[in-house]
Amino acid sequence: MAEGAQPLKHIRTAEFVVSNTDVRRLPDPHLPEYALIGRSNVGKSSLINALTGQKKLAKVSVTPGKTQLINHFVINKNSKPWYMVDLPGYGFAKVPVKEKEKWTRFIRTYLKYRENLMCVLVLLDCRHDAQKVDLEFMEWLGEHGIPFVMVFTKLDKLKKGEWETKFKKYEAKMLEVWEALPQVFATSSDSGKGLEELLDFVEDTNVHFKPFH
Ligand code: GTP
Ligand code: MG
Repeated sequence: MAEGAQPLKHIRTAEFVVSNTDVRRLPDPHLPEYALIGRSNVGKSSLINALTGQKKLAKVSVTPGKTQLINHFVINKNSKPWYMVDLPGYGFAKVPVKEKEKWTRFIRTYLKYRENLMCVLVLLDCRHDAQKVDLEFMEWLGEHGIPFVMVFTKLDKLKKGEWETKFKKYEAKMLEVWEALPQVFATSSDSGKGLEELLDFVEDTNVHFKPFH
């Protein structure tokens, strides 16, 4: 890990807060919150570790589907704090259907009712063509008016030309449904690419947070 080993300029502190399987027990919604979601193995936990410069803050799995909880992390707790949330991956094969349905309901309840959720970061592996499960998930977000951005991961695995071709294809697929693409980030937790841009986005969005009483 190169730049990922150092905290990025916007991150002063990062700490684990709590893991949850119950949406009624989430931390008080007094801070702006950003949730990472995507297919299992897409690199959610790695991205959290790279952003915070802590190799073990979120557990990186070799077994897909390892993150089965809503994990809250507090960033910059002493000044301009915000929550980063690691959600369970969707779309993995080895979990029984009943379990999958339970998680889907659980994640959807969280996404629909979490009042301090500023934006969902939908993680997508840059090497893959648009997948049905991702497209449908983004459509579901759109239908429920939940703001999201697209965060492509593992950019270090592609050459520049390859990425441009892949992205053009992805964009064309999205434009079959959407009038315009949401904001797009191209990142690598290994090289650090795109991470500052993502944190700039969070800082800019945090300004719009209005606490609920
Ligand atoms: P679940 O918690 O199972 O849903 O997975 P996850 O989305 O949290 O993925 P995780 O961060 O555990 O990463 C999965 C695998 O991809 C690990 O072997 C990581 O080392 C690898 N990986 C993640 N990000 C990158 C990246 O930017 N570049 C490369 N080359 N590998 C990565
Ligand atoms: Mg994970």
